[in-house]
Amino acid sequence: MRVPLIAGNWKMYKTIAEAVEFVVRLKPLVTAADHCEVVVAPPFTALRAVADAAKGTNIAVAAQDMHWDKEGAHTGDISAAMIAETGATHVIIGHSERRQDHAETDEQVNRKIKAALTTGLTPIVCVGETLVEREAARMEEVLRRQFQGGFAGLTPPEFSRIIIAYEPVWAIGTGRTATPEMAAESHRFLRGLVRQSLGETLAAQVRILYGGSVKPDNIRGLMAQDGIDGALVGGASLKPDSFAAIVNYLRS
Ligand code: PGA
Repeated sequence: MRVPLIAGNWKMYKTIAEAVEFVVRLKPLVTAADHCEVVVAPPFTALRAVADAAKGTNIAVAAQDMHWDKEGAHTGDISAAMIAETGATHVIIGHSERRQDHAETDEQVNRKIKAALTTGLTPIVCVGETLVEREAARMEEVLRRQFQGGFAGLTPPEFSRIIIAYEPVWAIGTGRTATPEMAAESHRFLRGLVRQSLGETLAAQVRILYGGSVKPDNIRGLMAQDGIDGALVGGASLKPDSFAAIVNYLRS
């Protein structure tokens, strides 16, 4: 069935030296974790060093964003092939901070997903509503729009390689976690969208992570929910101890 996945999104934190030190300290804390996949997402500058430090371990590496073109005049951007060359195997796409700070659209998310898949990277695709949207009871409409736009035109084999992260924007970095029940409700809705457009098999297979103020003390409740297949962790992923406690949620 669905293997849980715990991913740490470091955002714009950690120099190369700090990132490598993190991996050195994390390794022994998660070597026994065979119940889930473990991923860390350092900034671009540290990808290669972290991938080297994590070689031969159960820690996989993700980039936090990418450009959809193979190459070109895109100052400051990084292509999927450049990411893959570092040893990273995953890439976060459509994080709400990219959507907000860089006006990223569902159409761009869609192009990035396709380019990531072509290059052999596993996309972790973020969706989620803002507080205003939730309070206006527009959550389902927003998730449907992001889903239909972001995943447009994907074949079933392509979609089968994607991981979805449900991250309500109002819960990111705010300390306001969605309750396990609220998160599970959104996960059910998203899985329903997969069922409607791609069928029951893919709906049962797709992993949907929860993200937004996940901490060592709330991961267990979240993971106890049926449709929650892991977590995308920001702030609490920056320290090896707290990230390891989240990875080892079964023992917490
Ligand atoms: P947070 O961030 O855990 O700090 O809320 C989650 C994310 O943005 O992926």
